[in-house]
Amino acid sequence: MKPVPPNQQRALVDRLVQACGGAYSPDVRRKYFISGPQWAASYQGQALFHAPTRSAIGFEDVIREYGKIGIGYWCTHDSDVIPAEQLGRDGQCEIVARIQKSLADHGLKCSMVTTETFFHEVFAAGPAAESPEIREYAAYRVRNTVDIGHELGAQFAVYWPGSLGYYTQGAIDETQSLRWYADALNAACERDIEVAKKKNRPTLKHCLEAKPFEPQAEILLPTSDAMLAFIGSGLLRHPEMVGLNPEYLHELMWGGAPRAALARALLAGKLWHFDINDGYRLKHDVDIGVGLVNPLDWLNVLVLLRAHNYAGPFNLDYKPPRTTSNYGVFAVSFPSAVDRFITLWEMAGEVREDAIVREATEALKAGSGVAAGADGKAIADANKELLTLHELIAHRLVQILLGLHRGRQYFA
Ligand code: GLC
Ligand code: MN
Ligand code: MN
Repeated sequence: MKPVPPNQQRALVDRLVQACGGAYSPDVRRKYFISGPQWAASYQGQALFHAPTRSAIGFEDVIREYGKIGIGYWCTHDSDVIPAEQLGRDGQCEIVARIQKSLADHGLKCSMVTTETFFHEVFAAGPAAESPEIREYAAYRVRNTVDIGHELGAQFAVYWPGSLGYYTQGAIDETQSLRWYADALNAACERDIEVAKKKNRPTLKHCLEAKPFEPQAEILLPTSDAMLAFIGSGLLRHPEMVGLNPEYLHELMWGGAPRAALARALLAGKLWHFDINDGYRLKHDVDIGVGLVNPLDWLNVLVLLRAHNYAGPFNLDYKPPRTTSNYGVFAVSFPSAVDRFITLWEMAGEVREDAIVREATEALKAGSGVAAGADGKAIADANKELLTLHELIAHRLVQILLGLHRGRQYFA
């Protein structure tokens, strides 16, 4: 192939995107509760070992491009859009008004707001540091985010505690730090109750997000299960207002089964918001686009969520790779992530309706009918052939995922 000069590269990308097929229209995409974070689209590709590869882009551009793609909801950290020194001041009102206008102009809604309590130097010792003024500042930030959320019409607030933990041991008492962290959440909930009443709006759903490592070496609330225990610990004054925002990859990172983690959250009635992405077990937070690494597991996850009528947001919390250009972020990365999600969601519907999966599942639950009181060996013998269906169901899922049930041949 001949070299592709820079002025022909976008056309090539566009042509190949078209050739991929399988894309949904913006109107179809808007029917799903899919949200696009400000920070995902504006991520410049930088990290500890990496210089940025993309230029900066603001919320007006992100919202406009999400609108064109058909992403119906937008979410943000407070400091993604409002410089830290403007938070809670006049500058904030002016920016919030501009955001409202952008959302209205492009037909999006703000679904969620989240407080950044990890990036700013004030959070070097975490959001629940010993020093009372740091904790008062953290409480101020989460209260202010509640205000922003109500201004923007959000339904959810998310809390990723970030640096709640330590690199070196001994300086903190974990029980004390967790009490202090609860104080910040209590401050947010209490502010919410006040503002919601004044504005005659429902209170926000406050969702905790766990991550097992990064940015600290040791994390005090490393998993969704730890968060559930924290919600039920008695430290929160309004535990009914607090639920979970699990992130798919964050559960995989500690070696958990994301589907099982989601099931535990469902049982607790706390699966309120869900960050969708992909990556690898026991590695760092690579935040790859949904379905690019573990499509089979994703199919399974969505079968579970459909079975339990999950109706919360699917938040595209991933990072377009460093090799994707500014143009590619909206020409390839976001539309393809949305379309993979929708395809997997539709396939999950197909799995739930599939006659083979259904009959096999029902048969497993029916058992063999061997007389009650039979001994273990007799029960095992009576169920032997039935249990083969486990593997058949797994095969059927892969068939549906790969379209194998429709047959496939390769003609060179
Ligand atoms: C950070 C985390 C992300 C989380 C978000 C919400 O960006 O990396 O996982 O969802 O904060 O606070
Ligand atoms: Mn996340
Ligand atoms: Mn992540």
